[in-house]
Amino acid sequence: MSIMFDDFKEQVRSQANIVDIVSEYVPLKKRGSSYWGCCPFHGEKTPSFSVSPDKNFFYCFGCHAGGDIFSFIMKIENCTFQEALKILANKLGIPIPEREKTRQEIEREKEAKEIIAANELATRFYQACLAKSEYGRIAQKYLAGRGITPEIIEKFSIGVSLPVYTSLVKALGKRGCREELLIKAGLALKGRSGAYDKFRGRVMIPIEDARGHVVGFGGRTLEQNAETAKYMNTAETEWFNKRTLLFGLHAAFKEIKKRRQAIIVEGYMDAISLHAAGIDWAVASMGTAFSAEQAKLLARVCDEVVFSYDSDEAGLRADIRAVSIARAAGLKVKVLSVPDGKDPDEFVRKHGTDAYLKLIENASDGFDFQMRQTIAQNNVSNLAGKVEAVSKILPFLLECKNDIEVAGHISRLAQLLTIDESLIMSEYRKLARKSGRREPVTPLPQQKTVRAAGAEDEAERQLLNILAKNLRLLLLYRDKIEQAGFTSPEHEEIYNALAEQLAKSPDGDAASELFRSLNPQAAAEFAAIMAKNVQPGDEEKLIEDCIRTMNKGKLEALYEKHRLLADEYERLGDSRFLQELAESQKIKDAIKNLY
Ligand code: CTP
Ligand code: MN
Repeated sequence: MSIMFDDFKEQVRSQANIVDIVSEYVPLKKRGSSYWGCCPFHGEKTPSFSVSPDKNFFYCFGCHAGGDIFSFIMKIENCTFQEALKILANKLGIPIPEREKTRQEIEREKEAKEIIAANELATRFYQACLAKSEYGRIAQKYLAGRGITPEIIEKFSIGVSLPVYTSLVKALGKRGCREELLIKAGLALKGRSGAYDKFRGRVMIPIEDARGHVVGFGGRTLEQNAETAKYMNTAETEWFNKRTLLFGLHAAFKEIKKRRQAIIVEGYMDAISLHAAGIDWAVASMGTAFSAEQAKLLARVCDEVVFSYDSDEAGLRADIRAVSIARAAGLKVKVLSVPDGKDPDEFVRKHGTDAYLKLIENASDGFDFQMRQTIAQNNVSNLAGKVEAVSKILPFLLECKNDIEVAGHISRLAQLLTIDESLIMSEYRKLARKSGRREPVTPLPQQKTVRAAGAEDEAERQLLNILAKNLRLLLLYRDKIEQAGFTSPEHEEIYNALAEQLAKSPDGDAASELFRSLNPQAAAEFAAIMAKNVQPGDEEKLIEDCIRTMNKGKLEALYEKHRLLADEYERLGDSRFLQELAESQKIKDAIKNLY
């Protein structure tokens, strides 16, 4: 970012009056030093949404959304930081500067353009080879044999590379593509006597970015021997990064948007084949692990994704992760399983479109899938195994946003494992508290959810509040704090950011600096922490109290775990319950010794 751009950002920040701007979206009323209204981010009738003009942030005591004016705009307009900046600048009448580009940026953009141009020329060349050459006829036969129609060939701009060394290099050379450019684009390789074609004798599948620019290729061999790799792809470079791309997204875009759903498969051929079968809202993650970037691409156009990966061991493990990644991007997630180990391409060709549509309809809920797979991967024939499986499943449960849904999942998990529902519920609550979730579920939906923040959680918050205002105290207590540790990742992140701030400028205003470096979730938590006024007083004593409470909390969690195990063993008449009881007594003593 250039200096000029930073100036612009600061200008917007300093001129944006948070109360005025939020008022455009939410009616606010002044009460005390803050303004209050009904939160726009969750349905409510009594106002718990506060805007603090002095501290320049908003915070909702109901849904815990919070942050500065930029995060407010990003959230309410559902946009990126850059877009929020523009929206605010427009509201304030601040002219948006043509961002001054660095020499490097200009150079990079020029290179990217050249590479795309070369890739698009190559696409046309490969298409011509498919349509017009002798070898193209072999490829056409191969494609026809796989049920790929001329329309689909056209739709995906599929072509073929000839089984010779310099056909592309020569053809594109005539059109002014220098050899270095072809090498940089990954279309040619450097040989002793000049560049030669990287892709030879392969069906060429162009890979487009979301805007429809060809950025690379996947090439499937036409040879049926074991020596040639089945696929050869454009090498990963700063211009071509599979993690940020989804094969077929451009072609599927409209349909995905219309249906608010995307099907995600592993392979090029799976996506192509589904489109050929009329299921034209399918995209492929191209054999790499589904990434957060890919999830974000989809979250902008749809609400739900259906994973349709291969159901081998590796595929299933990839699915478990992928579900969490998609969920984190705010997507609803389903997992479809193709019967008898076939991939979607083979299945849809053998059984037809309707059969695949049925599979989509019957896809399992993402969490159910994670639960069943985790159970299948653990030995749950004894209690220890069950407890182990539960501890692996609970983090997935924590990702679910809806409390009533969570209660339903817990009850099913209890049934599946034949263990006590309250045991799982109590483990879940503990984990929820630790990870900073404020509203653990109650099994009865009609019961009001209570704010059950543990003492430990409160202590961490108070500690961070004091530290943010007295950064130097962090230096004094660093070892003790780090030894005690934080229970939620957000608190840990805030603490680390404070420590970093201390190293940079110990006298600066930690609070406002911090908002810029934190993740949205941590920023919201930080807003909540700073929204509380801790009375100034004996800060050192307060800090020591907080640390003691944090240590106590850790020991109590440990105690609780052994006690629960003891209960469960006793219920089952297992003599190991004595051992667990002894262990929990020991921990109880340690807690006493804290004071
Ligand atoms: N892949 C790759 N390189 C390989 C093998 C696989 O890049 N050597 C990627 C490709 O994106 C491929 C995907 O992983 O599409 C899935 O692999 P696979 O299931 O083997 O390929 P299919 O798409 O099913 O291809 P085909 O049906 O032609 O075998
Ligand atoms: Mn296949």
